[in-house]
This record gives sequence, C-alpha cells and structure tokens, in this order.
Amino acid sequence: MTRQVAPSILAADFGRLREQVNEVVAAGARVIHVDIMDGHFVPPLSMGPGAVEALRDLDVILEVHMMIEQPERQIEAFAQAGADHITIHAEATPHVHGTLQRIRELGCRAGLAFCPSTPPAMLAEVEVDIALCMTVNPGWGGQSFIPSSPGKLERMRALLGDGPDLEVDGGIDRDTAGPCAQAGATLFVAGTSVFGAHDPGEAFREISRAAGCG
Ligand code: DX5
Ligand code: ZN
Repeated sequence: MTRQVAPSILAADFGRLREQVNEVVAAGARVIHVDIMDGHFVPPLSMGPGAVEALRDLDVILEVHMMIEQPERQIEAFAQAGADHITIHAEATPHVHGTLQRIRELGCRAGLAFCPSTPPAMLAEVEVDIALCMTVNPGWGGQSFIPSSPGKLERMRALLGDGPDLEVDGGIDRDTAGPCAQAGATLFVAGTSVFGAHDPGEAFREISRAAGCG
C-alpha cells in the first residue's frame, strides 16, 4: 500500500500560504491536510471552507480534518469548497454512520478520527476509506507524540483490514514516522516538522523517507 506524508497547513505562515504549499508540492507532496476547529470540540478556532476554496485549483488532494461538533451540518460546504477527503471525529456526533455515508454521496473519501482515549471498536460497525488515529490530543500543533500510539495503530489496522488508509496526526516527524509505518500507518500528517523547518521541502522529503514512502 502506498504511503504519503500530508503537510498540515495549520503550521504554515498564512500570509504566504500558497507559496508554502507550492514548496511542499514541488518536493512531492500530493495530499494537503486542512484542520478545521470550532472552539467547542476543541478550544481553538481555525479556518472554514474558504481555506479549502483558496487551494482548490492546485493539483493536490485536499484533506479536511473536522475537529468540530455536529460535523453533519458542515460537510456539504466543505465538499462544495473542493475537499477530496473529509474526516469527522467519532466523538463529535451520534450519527457517525450516516455522516460517513453522506460524505461518500458527496463524492469524497470518508474518514473517521479517534482521540487518544477513544477505543477504535466502532471501526467494526462502519465503512471508512480512512481511519485517523490522533497521536496527540486534538486542538494544537507542535505537541509531543504519544508513545503508546503504535500499539493502538496495530489494533486499528487489525480492525480495518488491508484496504483503507490508516492515518496518524500529531507529533509526526522523522523519528516518529517510522514506528507508525511499521504499525500499519499509510498517511502521515506533519505540521510543525514540515512548515516549522527552515526548508519545508527538504523536511517533507526526510519525513517521507523515514515513513518509507514510494
Ligand atoms: C492537531 C491537528 C494536526 C496538527 C498537527 O489537532 O489535527 O493536524 O496540524 O500538528 P503537528 O504536526 O505540529 O503535531
Ligand atoms: Zn489534523
């Protein structure tokens, strides 16, 4: 299964957003991760569909990670803005199954995210294209990777089978990407370790190598 590093624009300089995204695209990035926060599910506010719209003409997969309550009320706006992947949180709605179905009907790949304390057993009850394992508590970039995460990834991969992507998000860098790949991860979100680096393109390539990408 192919592995990809997905730079997270949460850590980018918003005044130079396109320039920074173009740098990582030139280095080989094909998936760009966009973090949506509502000030309720997680304390901070981040961006809305406008951020997706601003990047939709680039030749990349735009992945929307919705850290918001009742995501079912917002998925259409993000699909219309140009999202290719829409990931909702298992903790954010009682209507996980229906919301994943609706994401697919809108023509997007459907993802389901789990906070560090959330057991991933729900994966047995729904069909997903992507399962996202939070490897920090959601809400902020720049946190430290939770060391027990690879064990959880193995349990998630066992529930998922081989087909769907297994994604890691939080504290991913050239040291943590490798153990996650060994535990079955295929998508690696990297914010601070890419856009906080002096040379984001080179940092992207280093993490991709550590993850064993193509
Ligand atoms: C955190 C977000 C992440 C964040 C990761 O809640 O979901 O996508 O951008 O940032 P780093 O890579 O800095 O941990
Ligand atoms: Zn994220």
